[in-house]
Amino acid sequence: MIRFENVSLGYTDRMVIQGVNLEIPEGKTMVILGDSGSGKSTLLKGVLGILQPQEGRIEVNGANVGDLDEDDLLGYRQRIGMVFQEGALFDSLTVGENIGFWLWEHTDWSDAQIEERIRTLLRFVGLEDVIDRRPDELSGGMRRRVAIARAMAPQDPLVMLYDEPTTGLDPFTSRSICDLIRQVQREFRVMSLVVTHDLHDAFRVGDLFSFIHDSRVILTGDRTVIEGSDDPFIKTFLST
Ligand SMILES: Nc1ncnc2c1ncn2[C@@H]1O[C@H](COP(=O)(O)OP(=O)(O)O)[C@@H](O)[C@H]1O
Ligand SMILES: [Mg+2]
Repeated sequence: MIRFENVSLGYTDRMVIQGVNLEIPEGKTMVILGDSGSGKSTLLKGVLGILQPQEGRIEVNGANVGDLDEDDLLGYRQRIGMVFQEGALFDSLTVGENIGFWLWEHTDWSDAQIEERIRTLLRFVGLEDVIDRRPDELSGGMRRRVAIARAMAPQDPLVMLYDEPTTGLDPFTSRSICDLIRQVQREFRVMSLVVTHDLHDAFRVGDLFSFIHDSRVILTGDRTVIEGSDDPFIKTFLST
């Protein structure tokens, strides 16, 4: 389980989110919704442990991320698959090199072992034939698939974090990425956090939904809870 307990997160000059309580059960996907600048990416940084809470604690399977020392954090982050906004691939490297990069840098695996891992991951995301291509030769949807494969490279993930995985994609491609996120969830039984502002995608990938507004989580629940809400912000969000 991922548990946010009264978490406040921010930067030196300002607090971005305050007093957040969330629980993501084993194997479930929570979608984080909210306006641009409301702190969605900041929340993911908290789970990754690259930003420490000013208050409260973030626990993953019982361990407080804030208590991990440098070594523990490295091990912990290997099990967190982060898919950055826009995929954030290295355009100067091939697809295979993008996926294998971390393994070459941080493990003593042989080239053959790394290549096998790369091929397994590319097969999983349905892209084995693009291993030698460069990201800028791929469609937006393919780049997101590569980014998902890369996020899983170090180890089969415990947690997957997706920052706006479908932004800029057409509806058909968005759906296929949502389906892939579901497939990762099923296959690896991961807990996932997905940031999006697209409600269709949200309902396609999520088990639980959480709305951030004015620095706070204003509502969390399943689809029934969200659709039954009387909150004016949520009603506006649902109707647009
Ligand atoms: N590294 C940073 N230093 C200072 N302020 C930041 C930093 N990153 C984000 N912010 C600010 O924190 C707020 C929330 O940002 P973010 O979490 O990226 O929002 P979202 O992902 O919901 O669009 C924004 O006002 C943003 O300008
Ligand atoms: Mg963001």
